[in-house]
Amino acid sequence: MKTHAIRMHEYGGPEVLQYEEIELADPAPGEARVRHTAIGLNFIDTYHRTGLYPMDLPTGLGSEAAGIVDAVGKGVTEVSVGDRVVYTGRPAESYSQSRNFPAWQLVPIPDDVTDEQAAAVLLKGLTAWYLIRRSYPIQPGDPVLLYAAAGGVGSLASQWAKHLGATVIGVVSTDEKAALARSQGCDHIIMADDEDVAGEVRALTGGEGVAAVYDSIGRDTFISSLDSLRPHGVMVTFGNASGPVDAFAPVELAKRHSLYVTRPILFDFIADRDSLLAAAAELFAVVGQGIVRINVNQRYPLEDAAKAHTDIEARKTTGSTVLIP
Ligand SMILES: NC(=O)c1ccc[n+]([C@@H]2O[C@H](COP(=O)([O-])OP(=O)(O)OC[C@H]3O[C@@H](n4cnc5c(N)ncnc54)[C@H](OP(=O)(O)O)[C@@H]3O)[C@@H](O)[C@H]2O)c1
Repeated sequence: MKTHAIRMHEYGGPEVLQYEEIELADPAPGEARVRHTAIGLNFIDTYHRTGLYPMDLPTGLGSEAAGIVDAVGKGVTEVSVGDRVVYTGRPAESYSQSRNFPAWQLVPIPDDVTDEQAAAVLLKGLTAWYLIRRSYPIQPGDPVLLYAAAGGVGSLASQWAKHLGATVIGVVSTDEKAALARSQGCDHIIMADDEDVAGEVRALTGGEGVAAVYDSIGRDTFISSLDSLRPHGVMVTFGNASGPVDAFAPVELAKRHSLYVTRPILFDFIADRDSLLAAAAELFAVVGQGIVRINVNQRYPLEDAAKAHTDIEARKTTGSTVLIP
Protein backbone atom coordinates (compact mmCIF):
# COMPACT_ATOMS: atom_id res chain seq x y z
CA MET A 1 0.00 0.00 0.00
CA LYS A 2 1.01 3.63 -0.46
CA THR A 3 1.69 5.81 2.57
CA HIS A 4 3.60 8.99 3.40
CA ALA A 5 6.72 9.33 5.52
CA ILE A 6 9.55 11.68 6.35
CA ARG A 7 12.69 10.38 4.63
CA MET A 8 16.28 11.56 4.58
CA HIS A 9 18.83 10.85 1.85
CA GLU A 10 21.78 12.56 3.54
CA TYR A 11 22.76 13.72 7.03
CA GLY A 12 22.45 17.39 7.82
CA GLY A 13 20.24 20.14 9.20
CA PRO A 14 16.45 20.02 9.43
CA GLU A 15 16.27 20.76 5.67
CA VAL A 16 17.27 17.15 4.86
CA LEU A 17 13.86 15.94 6.11
CA GLN A 18 11.64 15.26 3.08
CA TYR A 19 7.94 14.31 3.13
CA GLU A 20 7.55 11.56 0.53
CA GLU A 21 5.08 8.96 -0.71
CA ILE A 22 6.45 5.46 -0.10
CA GLU A 23 5.39 1.87 -0.72
CA LEU A 24 4.70 -0.13 2.47
CA ALA A 25 4.89 -3.93 2.19
CA ASP A 26 2.53 -6.24 4.10
CA PRO A 27 3.73 -7.01 7.63
CA ALA A 28 6.33 -9.80 7.78
CA PRO A 29 5.97 -12.73 10.21
CA GLY A 30 6.07 -11.37 13.76
CA GLU A 31 5.25 -7.82 12.65
CA ALA A 32 2.12 -5.70 12.91
CA ARG A 33 1.18 -2.74 10.74
CA VAL A 34 0.41 0.36 12.82
CA ARG A 35 -1.61 3.28 11.42
CA HIS A 36 -0.15 6.20 13.37
CA THR A 37 -2.34 8.74 15.11
CA ALA A 38 0.42 10.61 16.99
CA ILE A 39 4.22 10.51 16.74
CA GLY A 40 6.62 11.42 19.55
CA LEU A 41 9.40 13.92 18.84
CA ASN A 42 12.62 13.15 20.70
CA PHE A 43 16.00 14.82 20.87
CA ILE A 44 17.56 11.53 19.73
CA ASP A 45 15.87 12.13 16.36
CA THR A 46 18.25 15.06 15.84
CA TYR A 47 21.27 12.79 16.53
CA HIS A 48 19.98 10.41 13.83
CA ARG A 49 19.40 13.31 11.43
CA THR A 50 22.91 14.75 11.85
CA GLY A 51 24.66 11.36 11.74
CA LEU A 52 25.91 11.57 15.35
CA TYR A 53 24.16 8.20 15.67
CA PRO A 54 24.71 6.82 12.14
CA MET A 55 22.05 4.91 10.18
CA ASP A 56 22.09 3.42 6.67
CA LEU A 57 20.91 6.03 4.12
CA PRO A 58 18.37 6.67 2.74
CA THR A 59 16.26 6.16 5.83
CA GLY A 60 13.14 7.17 7.68
CA LEU A 61 13.33 8.83 11.08
CA GLY A 62 11.66 8.68 14.48
CA SER A 63 11.67 6.23 17.40
CA GLU A 64 8.19 6.52 18.95
CA ALA A 65 4.54 6.59 17.90
CA ALA A 66 1.01 5.60 18.87
CA GLY A 67 -1.74 4.29 16.64
CA ILE A 68 -4.05 1.45 15.70
CA VAL A 69 -3.02 -2.02 14.56
CA ASP A 70 -4.62 -2.52 11.13
CA ALA A 71 -2.88 -5.71 9.94
CA VAL A 72 -0.75 -8.45 11.49
CA GLY A 73 1.82 -10.82 10.00
CA LYS A 74 2.01 -14.58 10.53
CA GLY A 75 2.56 -15.81 14.06
CA VAL A 76 1.62 -12.58 15.84
CA THR A 77 0.01 -13.31 19.22
CA GLU A 78 0.75 -10.13 21.18
CA VAL A 79 -1.76 -7.80 19.48
CA SER A 80 -4.88 -7.94 17.27
CA VAL A 81 -6.30 -5.75 14.52
CA GLY A 82 -8.04 -2.75 16.12
CA ASP A 83 -5.80 -2.54 19.22
CA ARG A 84 -4.57 0.88 20.32
CA VAL A 85 -0.81 0.63 20.81
CA VAL A 86 2.30 2.71 21.44
CA TYR A 87 5.92 1.77 20.84
CA THR A 88 9.49 2.92 20.95
CA GLY A 89 12.39 1.39 19.06
CA ARG A 90 14.16 0.97 15.76
CA PRO A 91 14.37 0.92 12.81
CA ALA A 92 13.69 4.64 12.99
CA GLU A 93 10.59 4.97 10.82
CA SER A 94 7.94 6.39 13.14
CA TYR A 95 7.73 9.72 11.22
CA SER A 96 5.16 8.14 8.89
CA GLN A 97 1.45 7.60 8.45
CA SER A 98 1.82 3.81 8.74
CA ARG A 99 4.68 1.38 9.28
CA ASN A 100 5.39 -2.25 10.17
CA PHE A 101 6.96 -2.99 13.55
CA PRO A 102 7.82 -6.08 15.65
CA ALA A 103 4.61 -7.00 17.50
CA TRP A 104 6.47 -7.92 20.71
CA GLN A 105 7.47 -4.26 21.10
CA LEU A 106 3.89 -2.90 20.92
CA VAL A 107 2.45 -1.74 24.25
CA PRO A 108 -1.34 -1.57 24.73
CA ILE A 109 -2.48 1.99 25.57
CA PRO A 110 -4.52 2.13 28.81
CA ASP A 111 -8.11 3.38 28.39
CA ASP A 112 -7.47 6.56 30.40
CA VAL A 113 -4.52 7.62 28.20
CA THR A 114 -5.06 9.23 24.79
CA ASP A 115 -3.01 8.27 21.74
CA GLU A 116 -1.37 11.69 21.82
CA GLN A 117 -0.42 11.34 25.49
CA ALA A 118 0.94 7.84 24.84
CA ALA A 119 3.14 9.10 21.98
CA ALA A 120 4.28 11.95 24.24
CA VAL A 121 5.24 9.77 27.19
CA LEU A 122 6.51 6.32 26.27
CA LEU A 123 10.13 6.92 25.24
CA LYS A 124 10.65 9.90 27.54
CA GLY A 125 8.72 8.38 30.46
CA LEU A 126 10.52 5.03 30.27
CA THR A 127 13.76 6.99 30.21
CA ALA A 128 12.71 8.87 33.34
CA TRP A 129 11.79 5.49 34.86
CA TYR A 130 15.16 3.82 34.31
CA LEU A 131 17.09 6.95 35.32
CA ILE A 132 15.48 7.29 38.74
CA ARG A 133 14.50 3.66 39.39
CA ARG A 134 17.48 1.79 37.89
CA SER A 135 20.56 3.88 36.98
CA TYR A 136 20.49 5.60 40.34
CA PRO A 137 17.41 4.48 42.31
CA ILE A 138 16.31 7.52 44.30
CA GLN A 139 15.95 7.13 48.06
CA PRO A 140 13.72 9.50 50.07
CA GLY A 141 15.68 12.61 51.03
CA ASP A 142 18.28 12.28 48.25
CA PRO A 143 19.36 15.54 46.66
CA VAL A 144 19.68 15.08 42.87
CA LEU A 145 20.66 17.36 39.99
CA LEU A 146 18.61 17.17 36.78
CA TYR A 147 19.47 19.01 33.56
CA ALA A 148 16.87 20.27 31.03
CA ALA A 149 14.30 20.02 33.81
CA ALA A 150 11.54 21.67 31.76
CA GLY A 151 12.16 19.50 28.67
CA GLY A 152 10.58 16.22 27.64
CA VAL A 153 12.44 13.73 29.84
CA GLY A 154 13.12 16.40 32.48
CA SER A 155 9.45 17.30 33.00
CA LEU A 156 8.54 13.67 33.63
CA ALA A 157 11.64 12.82 35.69
CA SER A 158 11.27 15.84 37.99
CA GLN A 159 7.66 15.00 38.87
CA TRP A 160 8.50 11.36 39.48
CA ALA A 161 11.70 12.09 41.44
CA LYS A 162 9.81 14.49 43.69
CA HIS A 163 7.19 11.82 44.34
CA LEU A 164 9.98 9.40 45.36
CA GLY A 165 11.09 11.92 47.98
CA ALA A 166 14.07 13.53 46.28
CA THR A 167 15.12 17.13 46.68
CA VAL A 168 15.27 18.03 43.00
CA ILE A 169 17.67 20.69 41.75
CA GLY A 170 16.73 21.51 38.15
CA VAL A 171 18.84 23.28 35.54
CA VAL A 172 16.99 25.34 32.88
CA SER A 173 17.83 28.21 30.51
CA THR A 174 14.98 30.73 30.89
CA ASP A 175 12.75 32.22 33.59
CA GLU A 176 9.66 30.69 31.91
CA LYS A 177 11.25 27.26 32.05
CA ALA A 178 12.23 27.89 35.68
CA ALA A 179 8.58 28.56 36.59
CA LEU A 180 7.48 25.45 34.72
CA ALA A 181 10.17 23.31 36.36
CA ARG A 182 9.17 24.52 39.83
CA SER A 183 5.53 23.66 39.09
CA GLN A 184 6.71 20.16 38.14
CA GLY A 185 8.49 19.38 41.39
CA CYS A 186 11.88 21.10 41.25
CA ASP A 187 12.76 22.41 44.71
CA HIS A 188 15.61 24.59 43.46
CA ILE A 189 16.56 26.01 40.07
CA ILE A 190 20.00 26.78 38.70
CA MET A 191 20.16 28.77 35.47
CA ALA A 192 22.00 26.97 32.64
CA ASP A 193 24.27 29.97 31.99
CA ASP A 194 25.50 29.96 35.60
CA GLU A 195 29.26 29.50 35.39
CA ASP A 196 29.47 27.74 38.75
CA VAL A 197 26.75 25.10 38.77
CA ALA A 198 28.81 22.88 41.09
CA GLY A 199 29.27 25.77 43.53
CA GLU A 200 25.51 26.42 43.51
CA VAL A 201 24.86 22.74 44.14
CA ARG A 202 27.26 22.75 47.10
CA ALA A 203 25.54 25.85 48.50
CA LEU A 204 22.11 24.18 48.18
CA THR A 205 23.25 20.92 49.80
CA GLY A 206 25.14 22.25 52.83
CA GLY A 207 28.46 21.62 51.08
CA GLU A 208 27.83 17.91 50.61
CA GLY A 209 26.89 17.57 46.94
CA VAL A 210 24.15 15.51 45.30
CA ALA A 211 23.59 11.75 45.36
CA ALA A 212 23.18 11.61 41.58
CA VAL A 213 23.37 13.84 38.52
CA TYR A 214 21.09 13.07 35.58
CA ASP A 215 23.00 14.84 32.79
CA SER A 216 21.58 14.94 29.25
CA ILE A 217 23.72 17.87 28.12
CA GLY A 218 26.97 15.93 27.67
CA ARG A 219 30.18 17.66 26.66
CA ASP A 220 29.61 21.10 28.22
CA THR A 221 28.48 19.91 31.65
CA PHE A 222 30.33 16.64 32.30
CA ILE A 223 33.08 17.97 34.58
CA SER A 224 30.86 20.34 36.52
CA SER A 225 28.44 17.45 37.03
CA LEU A 226 31.25 15.35 38.53
CA ASP A 227 32.13 18.33 40.73
CA SER A 228 28.52 18.43 41.98
CA LEU A 229 28.48 14.89 43.39
CA ARG A 230 28.88 13.78 46.99
CA PRO A 231 31.39 10.98 47.81
CA HIS A 232 30.31 7.73 46.09
CA GLY A 233 27.80 9.75 44.05
CA VAL A 234 26.49 8.51 40.70
CA MET A 235 26.97 10.40 37.43
CA VAL A 236 24.31 9.32 34.93
CA THR A 237 25.33 10.78 31.57
CA PHE A 238 22.49 9.96 29.19
CA GLY A 239 22.47 12.53 26.39
CA ASN A 240 24.50 14.80 24.11
CA ALA A 241 22.51 18.01 23.70
CA SER A 242 25.79 19.97 23.64
CA GLY A 243 27.81 17.19 21.96
CA PRO A 244 29.28 13.86 23.12
CA VAL A 245 31.40 13.75 26.27
CA ASP A 246 35.17 13.82 25.70
CA ALA A 247 37.41 10.99 26.91
CA PHE A 248 38.44 11.35 30.56
CA ALA A 249 40.82 9.61 32.96
CA PRO A 250 39.23 7.33 35.59
CA VAL A 251 41.42 8.98 38.23
CA GLU A 252 39.06 11.98 37.96
CA LEU A 253 36.51 9.78 39.79
CA ALA A 254 39.02 9.00 42.57
CA LYS A 255 39.93 12.67 43.00
CA ARG A 256 36.27 13.42 43.66
CA HIS A 257 35.86 10.60 46.22
CA SER A 258 35.06 7.28 44.54
CA LEU A 259 32.37 8.38 42.09
CA TYR A 260 30.46 6.10 39.72
CA VAL A 261 29.70 6.91 36.09
CA THR A 262 27.13 5.17 33.91
CA ARG A 263 26.23 5.87 30.30
CA PRO A 264 22.87 4.10 29.87
CA ILE A 265 20.52 3.76 26.89
CA LEU A 266 16.81 3.03 27.23
CA PHE A 267 16.69 0.05 24.91
CA ASP A 268 18.90 -2.03 27.24
CA PHE A 269 16.23 -1.74 29.94
CA ILE A 270 13.34 -2.93 27.71
CA ALA A 271 15.14 -5.59 25.69
CA ASP A 272 12.39 -8.23 25.98
CA ARG A 273 8.60 -8.10 26.18
CA ASP A 274 8.37 -8.88 29.91
CA SER A 275 10.79 -6.06 30.81
CA LEU A 276 9.04 -3.67 28.43
CA LEU A 277 5.54 -4.38 29.75
CA ALA A 278 6.66 -4.25 33.40
CA ALA A 279 8.36 -0.87 32.87
CA ALA A 280 5.39 0.49 30.91
CA ALA A 281 3.01 -0.70 33.65
CA GLU A 282 5.05 1.19 36.25
CA LEU A 283 5.01 4.31 34.04
CA PHE A 284 1.29 4.17 33.27
CA ALA A 285 0.55 3.57 36.97
CA VAL A 286 2.17 6.88 38.01
CA VAL A 287 0.44 8.59 35.08
CA GLY A 288 -2.93 7.07 36.06
CA GLN A 289 -2.51 8.17 39.68
CA GLY A 290 -1.79 11.75 38.58
CA ILE A 291 1.75 11.59 40.03
CA VAL A 292 3.26 12.27 36.61
CA ARG A 293 1.33 14.60 34.30
CA ILE A 294 1.98 14.47 30.56
CA ASN A 295 2.27 17.95 29.09
CA VAL A 296 2.00 18.04 25.29
CA ASN A 297 3.18 21.61 24.80
CA GLN A 298 3.85 21.56 21.03
CA ARG A 299 2.06 19.94 18.09
CA TYR A 300 3.17 20.01 14.45
CA PRO A 301 1.78 18.37 11.31
CA LEU A 302 4.08 15.49 10.30
CA GLU A 303 4.99 17.40 7.10
CA ASP A 304 6.49 20.11 9.36
CA ALA A 305 8.94 17.77 11.14
CA ALA A 306 11.81 20.04 10.03
CA LYS A 307 10.26 22.96 11.93
CA ALA A 308 9.88 20.75 15.02
CA HIS A 309 13.59 19.84 14.78
CA THR A 310 14.57 23.49 14.43
CA ASP A 311 12.57 24.37 17.54
CA ILE A 312 13.81 21.53 19.80
CA GLU A 313 17.43 22.24 18.83
CA ALA A 314 16.91 25.97 19.50
CA ARG A 315 15.69 25.08 23.05
CA LYS A 316 12.26 26.57 22.22
CA THR A 317 10.19 23.54 23.29
CA THR A 318 9.08 22.50 26.76
CA GLY A 319 7.51 19.24 27.93
CA SER A 320 6.59 16.82 25.14
CA THR A 321 6.10 17.44 21.43
CA VAL A 322 4.03 15.38 19.00
CA LEU A 323 3.83 15.22 15.22
CA ILE A 324 0.36 14.59 13.82
CA PRO A 325 0.25 12.48 10.62
N1 LIG B 1 20.14 7.57 26.82
C1 LIG B 1 18.84 7.43 26.71
O1 LIG B 1 18.30 6.34 26.90
C2 LIG B 1 17.99 8.63 26.39
C3 LIG B 1 16.63 8.45 26.14
C4 LIG B 1 15.85 9.58 25.91
C5 LIG B 1 16.44 10.84 25.89
N2 LIG B 1 17.77 10.96 26.10
C6 LIG B 1 18.40 12.29 26.11
O2 LIG B 1 17.68 13.10 27.01
C7 LIG B 1 17.75 14.44 26.61
C8 LIG B 1 16.37 15.02 26.62
O3 LIG B 1 15.64 14.50 25.51
P1 LIG B 1 14.23 15.13 25.14
O4 LIG B 1 13.79 14.48 23.89
O5 LIG B 1 13.36 15.10 26.33
O6 LIG B 1 14.65 16.65 24.79
P2 LIG B 1 14.33 18.00 25.61
O7 LIG B 1 14.87 17.88 27.00
O8 LIG B 1 12.90 18.34 25.47
O9 LIG B 1 15.18 19.06 24.79
C9 LIG B 1 16.55 19.22 25.02
C10 LIG B 1 16.82 20.29 26.10
O10 LIG B 1 18.20 20.26 26.40
C11 LIG B 1 18.60 21.54 26.87
N3 LIG B 1 19.85 21.95 26.24
C12 LIG B 1 20.97 22.28 26.90
N4 LIG B 1 21.94 22.55 26.06
C13 LIG B 1 21.45 22.44 24.82
C14 LIG B 1 22.01 22.63 23.53
N5 LIG B 1 23.28 23.00 23.34
N6 LIG B 1 21.19 22.43 22.45
C15 LIG B 1 19.91 22.05 22.62
N7 LIG B 1 19.35 21.84 23.84
C16 LIG B 1 20.11 22.05 24.92
C17 LIG B 1 17.46 22.52 26.56
O11 LIG B 1 16.83 22.83 27.82
P3 LIG B 1 17.28 24.22 28.54
O12 LIG B 1 17.06 25.28 27.49
O13 LIG B 1 16.37 24.38 29.71
O14 LIG B 1 18.73 24.05 28.92
C18 LIG B 1 16.54 21.71 25.67
O15 LIG B 1 15.19 22.11 25.83
C19 LIG B 1 18.48 14.45 25.27
O16 LIG B 1 19.84 14.76 25.48
C20 LIG B 1 18.34 13.02 24.81
O17 LIG B 1 19.36 12.64 23.94
C21 LIG B 1 18.56 9.87 26.34
